[in-house]
Amino acid sequence: MAKNVAVVGVTGAVGQEMINCLERRNFPVNELKVMASARSAGKTIKFRGKDLTVTEAAADSFAGVDIALMAVEADQSREFSPAAVKAGAVVIDNSSAYRMDPACPLVVPEVNPRAVKEMKKGIIANPNCSTIIMNVSVWPLHKVNSVSRIIVSTYQAASGSGKPAMDELAETARAWVEGRPIEPKVFPYQLVMNLFSLNSGLTDNGYNSEEMKMTNETRKIFGAPGMMVAATCVRVPVMRVHCESIALEFEKPMSPEEARKILEAAPGVKVLDDRAKNRSPQPLDAAGRDDVFVGRIREDISLPGRGLMLWVAGDQILKGAALNAVQIAELLV
Ligand SMILES: NC(=O)c1ccc[n+]([C@@H]2O[C@H](COP(=O)([O-])OP(=O)(O)OC[C@H]3O[C@@H](n4cnc5c(N)ncnc54)[C@H](OP(=O)(O)O)[C@@H]3O)[C@@H](O)[C@H]2O)c1
Repeated sequence: MAKNVAVVGVTGAVGQEMINCLERRNFPVNELKVMASARSAGKTIKFRGKDLTVTEAAADSFAGVDIALMAVEADQSREFSPAAVKAGAVVIDNSSAYRMDPACPLVVPEVNPRAVKEMKKGIIANPNCSTIIMNVSVWPLHKVNSVSRIIVSTYQAASGSGKPAMDELAETARAWVEGRPIEPKVFPYQLVMNLFSLNSGLTDNGYNSEEMKMTNETRKIFGAPGMMVAATCVRVPVMRVHCESIALEFEKPMSPEEARKILEAAPGVKVLDDRAKNRSPQPLDAAGRDDVFVGRIREDISLPGRGLMLWVAGDQILKGAALNAVQIAELLV
């Protein structure tokens, strides 16, 4: 049955892609409400050939909504999500607000689709983008042969910080070419011709909060509270698509050939691994694509037999956010 859907944060990087995903996946939408801040009220958004007018989101905006897709920051989600649930909607939230709440399932449809049934307060959380991209590629291997430890380093695109960050990368690239001074406002440092530890704030143990999300959220999604996961998350001057170098330790031996076969058959994964041509996934391969691209499948020579290394690239606005959220919504209809 068609649903009344709301997209909150529709003018942002994720909100825009949610509209595209609903349209191209032919999601059964009855009525679509598009909301953002007061700044965007009155703008129009195209959906299925019609112009929809953006309204300012408020606690009383959700009457009649069945599914509310939140594409706003955590503080705003904490304001709007309970109001949407109270009005009768199921919320699928892209922010970090509810991810570790035991009453809220944290779902990657290729990994733990049945978790949606455990929803206790009307909110399903969409995991962190780097976590989703890693989990889609690691889960099929873990299902066959338990992974006991993951060491991951990320190379995260500017768009992970939203539309203003994309505009800043483009503008500072122009400034660099023209020899003008570079004045970052969204990022704490110059990103063009540079990279830095992810701008997500350091926690007490010296890890940034994105790194701790990769550890804690993976444990929750995999149902593996003891899994050892250590991440280093880095922002790089790429517009779109997060890449990750992933080292896996298995309980039993796993050869690169076996891993490759498993990954070639895995949902949501595309293997791109041509050793002869030294060709592996690049951000431009994965941009605008639904699949997580996996390559450089090789033995971890520091852990012969039980260790594997992977290189993955995934469109974090799509699979890391909007697409994953719409796939969760598909589980509800
Ligand atoms: N970008 C990614 O790759 C990515 C990946 C995974 C998860 N996420 C998460 O997804 C959420 C959205 O991120 P984004 O990258 O799309 O950010 P963004 O491009 O900065 O967009 C933010 C959206 O929130 C709206 N907004 C801001 N204040 C609001 C308010 N008071 N009431 C209603 N709407 C308000 C903005 O509307 P205006 O245009 O009117 O300001 C805009 O539509 C965040 O929680 C982010 O952490 C992002």
